[in-house]
Amino acid sequence: MPKRLDLRYRTSAENDSDRANAIFSGAVLVYRSVPAMHELVDCLREITQREVGLSDPCLAESILKSEEFRHRASSARQIVREHGDVARLYKKVLLEAGVDISAVFYDHFKLRFQPSDDASKTRYMRDLPAHRDTWGSNIHAQINWWAPVWPVTADRTIGIFPALWNVPVPNVSAQWSYRELMHRLKGDKSTRYPMLPQCLAPPSLSEAEPIVIHPGDIMAFSGAHLHCSMPNQSGLVRVSTETRTVSAHDLLYSRSAKNVDCGASVSHFDWFHHIETGDSLAHHALGGQTT
Ligand SMILES: [Fe+2]
Repeated sequence: MPKRLDLRYRTSAENDSDRANAIFSGAVLVYRSVPAMHELVDCLREITQREVGLSDPCLAESILKSEEFRHRASSARQIVREHGDVARLYKKVLLEAGVDISAVFYDHFKLRFQPSDDASKTRYMRDLPAHRDTWGSNIHAQINWWAPVWPVTADRTIGIFPALWNVPVPNVSAQWSYRELMHRLKGDKSTRYPMLPQCLAPPSLSEAEPIVIHPGDIMAFSGAHLHCSMPNQSGLVRVSTETRTVSAHDLLYSRSAKNVDCGASVSHFDWFHHIETGDSLAHHALGGQTT
């Protein structure tokens, strides 16, 4: 059980097996200055600048009225999610990291804004509390990919709780339901139903280690790592991008993180689609229940 963050830097590609063995034992991998990641950052900056209407969107909360900022940020997020160049470049990034694309399923290509002022915050733009993604997906072979679009600082980035890797944390994963969330959102967009299962007793944020990497870098870590947004009080917006992947090979060879506290009964293979064909992972998964 690593008590300290096992942060490993990579300057060249590595195969899926080596990556999986490192990540599913708790390591956080940082691929440094990936050529395609620089291209992706340029592409995401162009979209963000155009949609937010500022050359430096990190200043948005102090220049724009909060309602206008929220509206423009929502538009940027939607465009990124559907943009052909973003998809093409994300695929190139994974290839340059050594990922076998033929086996990769992903959920979405996301642009995330983390404002510091309360007025700009929404369900999708806020400090995320400590959680494991696997509490929601119940797929323990899930890998998270995260990268800054503009430079980040220790008080305006993602944080990981290394001491809680493989340590059970009381949570509501057994009760949380994605179907219920969708149902509630349909009736009331401001429902308080959580977007993801949460901790019952959140750990102290002092246990979270902030990760500061540079635009052009991308980090990969297990979806089973407990992580959060470092509370942003900087006066600047954090702009980052992320996706989640599952390799069919990892499922086939049972390479995954240990499940120490996820009580979910449903595995959401249907959240993931093949990065080239668009086929659902639910059709490929061996065993497991899907929805
Ligand atoms: Fe997460």
